[in-house]
Amino acid sequence: MPPLPVKIAPSILAADFMRLGEQVSEAIEGGADWLHVDIMDGRFVPNISFGPMIPQAIRPLAKAANIPLDVHLMIEEPERYLEDFAKAGASRLTVHVEATNHLHRTVQAIKELGMKAGVTLNPATSLTTVEEIIPDVDLILIMSVNPGFGGQSYIPQSTHKIRRLRQMLTEQRSNAWLEVDGGISAKNTAEVVAAGATALVAGSAIFRGEKSIAANIAEMKNVARTVFSI
Ligand code: DX5
Ligand code: ZN
Repeated sequence: MPPLPVKIAPSILAADFMRLGEQVSEAIEGGADWLHVDIMDGRFVPNISFGPMIPQAIRPLAKAANIPLDVHLMIEEPERYLEDFAKAGASRLTVHVEATNHLHRTVQAIKELGMKAGVTLNPATSLTTVEEIIPDVDLILIMSVNPGFGGQSYIPQSTHKIRRLRQMLTEQRSNAWLEVDGGISAKNTAEVVAAGATALVAGSAIFRGEKSIAANIAEMKNVARTVFSI
């Protein structure tokens, strides 16, 4: 089978933390391409998740399988913690455009620490806020729910936003990943992939889905394959 040009990034926020290692291993064996790690500070978003200790803890599993840790910072002034997440093993670090005053500087700092740099925007934030930073980033993440909680429903307008961002990336000849996060499952995988997404985050659909973790990942991949007829 030809390689699928879309990455599946299970969000460990929806995992059973009592058995985190086991569930991460299951996701890796089940075909996870990246591991998505959600950091929430109780200020930028209403919820608190965990700090660098969790990526640090799962790092050996990810490293052994050569799977990147895709860390999504939902925190105010993320520039204060870039080094901590670099030390914790983040391969990609994504910050919110709404959370930092000097996005360009923050992006450069992430890259200087040896990580891939990502930027993300809330559902109501315009794509114009990332237009100028496109040449500098490796990844742009479209939030398809209001960040803070797993298990929410996909906001339908996100598909149009993905399509417009795909167009902006093409116009600027950018190879950045176009990642989507929030309410993604096998049910809307075809829609977001057809709109131009190249990386899909899924928490509930993978860790709390109808089937096993591996089967839930396989289902999303199978749907994505149909979009490319492979
Ligand atoms: C939302 C987080 C997401 C979340 C996705 O604030 O950024 O990564 O874990 O969860 P689901 O897939 O359950 O919407
Ligand atoms: Zn996330």
